[in-house]
Amino acid sequence: MGRPLQLVCQLLAYTTLAFTAALESCPGYSASNVQQTSQTLTADLSLAGEACNVFGEDISDLKLLVEYQTGINTSRIIACTLIDYRADTRLHVKIYDAAQQVFQIPEHFLTLPSGADGTSDSSSLIFTYAASPFSFAVQRADTKETLFNTSAANLVFESQYIRLRTSLPQDPYIYGLGEDSDPFRRPTQNYSRTFWNVGDSFLPAGSNLYGIHPIYVEMRDGQAHGVFLANSDGMDIKINSTETEGQYLEYNALGGIFDLYFLAGPTPSDVSQQYAGIVGLPAEVAYWTYGFHQCKYGWPDVYFLAEVVQNYSDAGIPLEVLWTDIDYMDRRRTWTLDPDRFPLPKMQELVDYLHERNMSYIVMVDPPVALNDTKSYDNALQKDVLLKRANGTVFVATMWPGATSWVDWLHPNAQDFWDSEVMSFFSEDTGLDVDGIWIDMNDPANFCPWPCDDPVGYAATHGQPPPPPDLRTTWPELPGFPADFQPNTTNAAVKREVSGNMTGYPGRNLLYPQYQINNTDGNLTANTIWPDLVHYGGYAHYDIHNLFAQGMITATRSSLLDPAGSGNSTGHWTGDNASLWDHYRISIRQNMEFASIFQIPTVGADVCGFNLATTETLCARWAVLGAWYPFYRNHADISAPNQEFYLWPLVTEAAKKAIKTRMQLIDYFYTQLHYQTLDGIPRTILPLMYVYPSDANTLDNELQFFFGPSLLVSPVTEENVTTVEFYLPKDIFYDFFTGEKVTGQGAMVTRNDVDYTDIPVHIRGGSIIPMRVDGANNTKLLRELDFELLIAPDLNGNAEGRLYLDDGESIKPTAISEINFTYSGGSLTVNGTFDFQTSSKIASITVLGKTGGYGGARLGSSSTQDRPLTEGFTVSV
Ligand SMILES: *[C@@H]1O[C@H](CO)[C@@H](O)[C@H](O)[C@H]1NC(C)=O
Ligand SMILES: *[C@@H]1O[C@H](CO)[C@@H](O)[C@H](O)[C@H]1NC(C)=O
Ligand SMILES: *[C@@H]1O[C@H](CO)[C@@H](O)[C@H](O)[C@H]1NC(C)=O
Ligand SMILES: *[C@@H]1O[C@H](CO)[C@@H](O)[C@H](O)[C@H]1NC(C)=O
Ligand SMILES: *[C@@H]1O[C@H](CO)[C@@H](O)[C@H](O)[C@H]1NC(C)=O
Ligand SMILES: *[C@@H]1O[C@H](CO)[C@@H](O)[C@H](O)[C@H]1NC(C)=O
Ligand SMILES: *[C@@H]1O[C@H](CO)[C@@H](O)[C@H](O)[C@H]1NC(C)=O
Ligand SMILES: *[C@@H]1O[C@H](CO)[C@@H](O)[C@H](O)[C@H]1NC(C)=O
Ligand SMILES: *[C@@H]1O[C@H](CO)[C@@H](O)[C@H](O)[C@H]1NC(C)=O
Ligand SMILES: *[C@@H]1O[C@H](CO)[C@@H](O)[C@H](O)[C@H]1NC(C)=O
Repeated sequence: MGRPLQLVCQLLAYTTLAFTAALESCPGYSASNVQQTSQTLTADLSLAGEACNVFGEDISDLKLLVEYQTGINTSRIIACTLIDYRADTRLHVKIYDAAQQVFQIPEHFLTLPSGADGTSDSSSLIFTYAASPFSFAVQRADTKETLFNTSAANLVFESQYIRLRTSLPQDPYIYGLGEDSDPFRRPTQNYSRTFWNVGDSFLPAGSNLYGIHPIYVEMRDGQAHGVFLANSDGMDIKINSTETEGQYLEYNALGGIFDLYFLAGPTPSDVSQQYAGIVGLPAEVAYWTYGFHQCKYGWPDVYFLAEVVQNYSDAGIPLEVLWTDIDYMDRRRTWTLDPDRFPLPKMQELVDYLHERNMSYIVMVDPPVALNDTKSYDNALQKDVLLKRANGTVFVATMWPGATSWVDWLHPNAQDFWDSEVMSFFSEDTGLDVDGIWIDMNDPANFCPWPCDDPVGYAATHGQPPPPPDLRTTWPELPGFPADFQPNTTNAAVKREVSGNMTGYPGRNLLYPQYQINNTDGNLTANTIWPDLVHYGGYAHYDIHNLFAQGMITATRSSLLDPAGSGNSTGHWTGDNASLWDHYRISIRQNMEFASIFQIPTVGADVCGFNLATTETLCARWAVLGAWYPFYRNHADISAPNQEFYLWPLVTEAAKKAIKTRMQLIDYFYTQLHYQTLDGIPRTILPLMYVYPSDANTLDNELQFFFGPSLLVSPVTEENVTTVEFYLPKDIFYDFFTGEKVTGQGAMVTRNDVDYTDIPVHIRGGSIIPMRVDGANNTKLLRELDFELLIAPDLNGNAEGRLYLDDGESIKPTAISEINFTYSGGSLTVNGTFDFQTSSKIASITVLGKTGGYGGARLGSSSTQDRPLTEGFTVSV
């Protein structure tokens, strides 16, 4: 949940033209002292002329480091031949200041692969350079295709501005570079993507949003490569094509270094896997998280929560997880319960009630610590973990609970502080026994505008959210702030100096750098905490801003597991969308981007829309589409009317049908995510081009997606219609619901009469899908049910699939089964390992496209089976 919509009337002082001219005078660098081995290349780069000092001072001495890295090798079967891409797939190119003062991302947030374990001879990417003015290029070793070439403009490396430009082919196919709501394929002209985390609502077009992912995937003639810039500073990435300068992509950052990783592909899936080799493999999630979730900001009290649960049960819509937004807090203070509306004993009763029925409960946690929450605040002060100003005093501004300070995730005691808050508040015995934590507002959001000299006074007069719908007669007051309350700065640390060790170039104007990124909220202080705050270790918030949420994610995951746990990623919801058809459509491309490019495969948008009033038909369609998101949650804002599925007959029907299908497919999905957590190959929400990379018709498709590698989902995407036109690649497909065989022609297909409760889904030929039989209204019960196998043969009559089974909960399960299904020549072979004990059996097998047999729910040949999942077998079907 973010702030309500606010129209920021910004007058960015764009004197771009003058600056552009000045940048043209920047001298670039010349390379000397070039040292080359088979594995690395290093050089000194010195300013090649008079400093231009356009947006700060030019740094005269840089270093270049090139490392050939093995990356991730991929083996793949192409035309029945196993091709082993032994070639090294990752090239690391780093340009940094010789004095190593300029900020580099601390290991606390991300451990970047360093060192050269590959060689130029075995690399699929080749590095070449020109000495003066210095520029470099990256080419494919086999085809000599130039993927990246910086000769188009001189390198600029200033104290508060760095620039690098690569030429690209005309109208390139570029994907990634989020988070935003822009088209899946990035525009190629006059496009600028700004990276500066903001907590804005309504997914504004063209603007920066909640997170940054500076990776792009480019498709060229059916081949993919990736470029990741490991830089967390505010930046604009421009893609443009002009008569004089041609087609290019240009990085313009407020600081940091050029730490580039080139990923060779050659398929988009390979690029994603290679990217996982840098940012880590994604986190696995518990089986129950695939159930349906319901949340709303503005539910008034614990009794209302109980009502929602009851209403879902009465409507026969399986609710798996209940969530509570900040409403449960005592006057919006993290780590507290509202004693009147959400009293602890009643909350404990509610959670017990849910747990007894195999349901789960999740609440929101915000990062700031409220001054008025003396218990937590004193704990934070005692552990010295609050973020400070440059003069050493604790920084105070405002957020939901009024005057607050922020945890400095870089402080060595931060984890200890967070652990103690999590453990005491969420204690199984004495607190709230939740099953998950939802973290928000970690952009980080601040409501008090700069300079915010009087946060307590500001809080008293601004920024309180409207109270929830007044269902009660005695409504407690939302917070006020005593005028005399001051932060305890007794043990404030001494002033820290920034110098030396990659913590940030000294002497910068951290509040108002001369180069202005196109931050949608205005300047760098807007709606957030100040860029000149000083993190532990001497880091400026200027450089850390875009990493703040990562700090909270890591700390929270670590507190929830045992403190030894490591947090790579968490799941992600795509923020404060609205109940608009356009946002329904945007959710599809956002899911594809997160799941397949950014390696955050557990992703979903707020179903039925967060802001504004939804409609019955939009909510029905969204209930159906959302069942095909990895994370399926209905959520609405406090200002929006309630939108629980049971409120409309049509939506009830749609949701029941959608959840029934989803439940049957949870094991398929759980299996796919499991393997992605092991090898990084995207397997949850896939763009069509990930499955058919050489089919150029897939490159602009952003309204259809694969749910796992086998199911093609083609939702209706317009209001008031029951028609959808969708693309079917040249391949064999089967209608998921009827079993009907459909031969894709590499063309659009029209489907009429798609009811509000329906969605076209096709099984890709060559797949075997293990489905649970129908009948469970909860994932715990689901796990007891039997399987039916759906076999969808390809052109040659072959198909394969797999099933992973474990207890669905443990991080390191003691017993697992990894079962492979292979269908060929009319016979099915089931083999693998079978260590996980389950009484579920394979109850039936259906071969689609085949007539005869007993006939089942789908067209095809079904046979009844009674095969325990304890050993392999082969059967003719
Ligand atoms: C793209 O180039 C045009 C023509 O030079 C220029 O007017 C425009 O500002 C550029 N756009 C971006 C985002 O750089
Ligand atoms: C700046 O961002 C806004 C969206 O926040 C966008 O509409 C505008 O085109 C961008 N301006 C430039 C020059 O890129
Ligand atoms: C994080 O990534 C590392 C390396 O990619 C992997 O070994 C680890 O299991 C991942 N952690 C989680 C929590 O998934
Ligand atoms: C789920 O189904 C079981 C019977 O299988 C029933 O006892 C239970 O009440 C149902 N739960 C809900 C929440 O509707
Ligand atoms: C401030 O913090 C110090 C150290 O934790 C503590 O001893 C002192 O009592 C606190 N002062 C106030 C006014 O709370
Ligand atoms: C520290 O800086 C803040 C903001 O400029 C100022 O309000 C405060 O008085 C300063 N405190 C000290 C001890 O210098
Ligand atoms: C916190 O806020 C409440 C209600 O506004 C007030 O009664 C109380 O005095 C405040 N506590 C502190 C320590 O200022
Ligand atoms: C930066 O933006 C804030 C509002 O968010 C405004 O108060 C401040 O004056 C701005 N500063 C400059 C230098 O434009
Ligand atoms: C970097 O150097 C500064 C000043 O010498 C020191 O205070 C700081 O702790 C160092 N930071 C890191 C991350 O090593
Ligand atoms: C859809 O139908 C509703 C009700 O008839 C109408 O209000 C709305 O304008 C229609 N929308 C479109 C896009 O035609």
